[in-house]
Amino acid sequence: MKGVILAGGTGSRLHPLTRITNKHLLPIYDRPMVTYAIEAIVKSGVDEIMLVTGGTHAGEFFRLLGDGHAHGIDRLSYAYQERESGIADALGLAERFAAGERVLVMLADNIFENSIKAAIDNYGKQEQGARIALSRQENAEHLRHLGVAELDGERVTGIVEKPENPPSEFAVTGLYFYDAAVFEFLPTLSPSARGELEITDVNNWYIEQGAMEYDVLEGFWGDAGESIDAYYAVNDFVRQHGANR
Ligand code: G1P
Repeated sequence: MKGVILAGGTGSRLHPLTRITNKHLLPIYDRPMVTYAIEAIVKSGVDEIMLVTGGTHAGEFFRLLGDGHAHGIDRLSYAYQERESGIADALGLAERFAAGERVLVMLADNIFENSIKAAIDNYGKQEQGARIALSRQENAEHLRHLGVAELDGERVTGIVEKPENPPSEFAVTGLYFYDAAVFEFLPTLSPSARGELEITDVNNWYIEQGAMEYDVLEGFWGDAGESIDAYYAVNDFVRQHGANR
């Protein structure tokens, strides 16, 4: 399995901090945000990674990560997203890198308290399709800013992006697993109301095919790019308890 880290976007919810740097280079406790996603993936045994970024600060990622070896990456590739067209558009840039293999995709503003290895192992056992990682979030207002899963027993029956009325307490985190079919589906997507190609549309396509499974992750999960308060909540948590344990 190969890893794809998505670190683009304008970071508009963290303006003005993100006018002078890329969101994923802002500090979380004692190091840049993106290094947590790298650590999560490398610690789980995936050491071939592509980082997708864009905008005016892309060069800083080279300065931070170089060839990746100091971060435990065996082969690090980079892709540059010319337009701000969403997560699913950024993923499309990794098609040749994936070269027909399965991919783990992680949003670089997502921070997990615990190891993601169990989810990777579960996807390894899954015969085909895709997999998402859910996190229970009891605060309905928080759920309105995320993708939320609709569950029917063991099955996920749909995902609603930024729901007015959250269909469950299970948020869809920015950790996804896809087989090669994803790259055939991506070009058929149309932009959403916010003008982006949505990863939720990709996930709902797999759900419609009956080819989506999920894990529920225990422990803290945070999207540090969701708001300035979320950014500080993630910082506070990591400073006290660490991450990727
Ligand atoms: C994205 C996804 C959303 C998911 C979130 C997790 O939201 O669209 O489904 O819950 O990441 O971090 P965005 O940050 O693009 O608003």
